[in-house]
Amino acid sequence: MGKALFITGTGTDVGKTFVTGLIVKRLRGAGMNAGYYKAALSGAERAADGTLLPGDALHVNRVANIGESVENLVSYIYEEAVSPHLAARHTGRPIEFSQVQADYRRAKEKYGYLTVEGSGGIICPLRWEDGEHLVLDDLVARLGLPALIVADAGLGTINATVLTIEHLSLRHIPVRGVILNHWTGGAMEEDNRRMIEEMTGIPVVALVGQGDEELSMEAGVLASLYA
Ligand SMILES: Nc1ncnc2c1ncn2[C@@H]1O[C@H](COP(=O)(O)OP(=O)(O)OP(=O)(O)O)[C@@H](O)[C@H]1O
Ligand SMILES: [Mg+2]
Repeated sequence: MGKALFITGTGTDVGKTFVTGLIVKRLRGAGMNAGYYKAALSGAERAADGTLLPGDALHVNRVANIGESVENLVSYIYEEAVSPHLAARHTGRPIEFSQVQADYRRAKEKYGYLTVEGSGGIICPLRWEDGEHLVLDDLVARLGLPALIVADAGLGTINATVLTIEHLSLRHIPVRGVILNHWTGGAMEEDNRRMIEEMTGIPVVALVGQGDEELSMEAGVLASLYA
């Protein structure tokens, strides 16, 4: 059984997939058996033959050269670009925790270092039916995953990042660090980095700039974040 790490973000579109691609690429480049898994993806495009394309998984599979088949990368794929709980309700295909758990375990058996990407931010409803509620933070806690947060480097990030860390702590989900994306440098971004570290005690472990092709982090240090 391999180790795993959950990648969450301060919100949707913050760059979780982009950064995850660099993370898995770095580990594989160092000879580690690193893989990718995502429980639920909404907003998938449809191929000419009608199949749904899980963009996030395809991106990481390609950038990091994993070579995994699509059906093993994502458990639930929805076309509608809305929260998974709503997309699932509209398609009549609700997310089952047992299915996610089984797929996650299979992936963890196959890979030494499994990177699990979240959907949206940490409060993302996956299932919200009568008597059956599953939110992403429940799923992460139940799978026993530690988390790494992807946040934007710019204005507003102190609020979003500190709130995300506080919520993860409340749910007893270990927080391994923060990666600031769209980093350009400059006094405000440097201050954001320092303020996040001082207000939470959680380190900013890497900075990712526009179009970066490599993660500026040593593979061994990166691997030590997995549990
Ligand atoms: N550092 C970067 N350089 C260039 N493009 C980036 C960078 N970070 C993010 N992007 C681009 O911004 C868009 C949103 O990023 P991404 O898909 O990684 O977000 P996400 O947090 O995974 O979103 P979702 O919640 O849908 O999973 C994508 O088109 C991605 O390629
Ligand atoms: Mg993504």
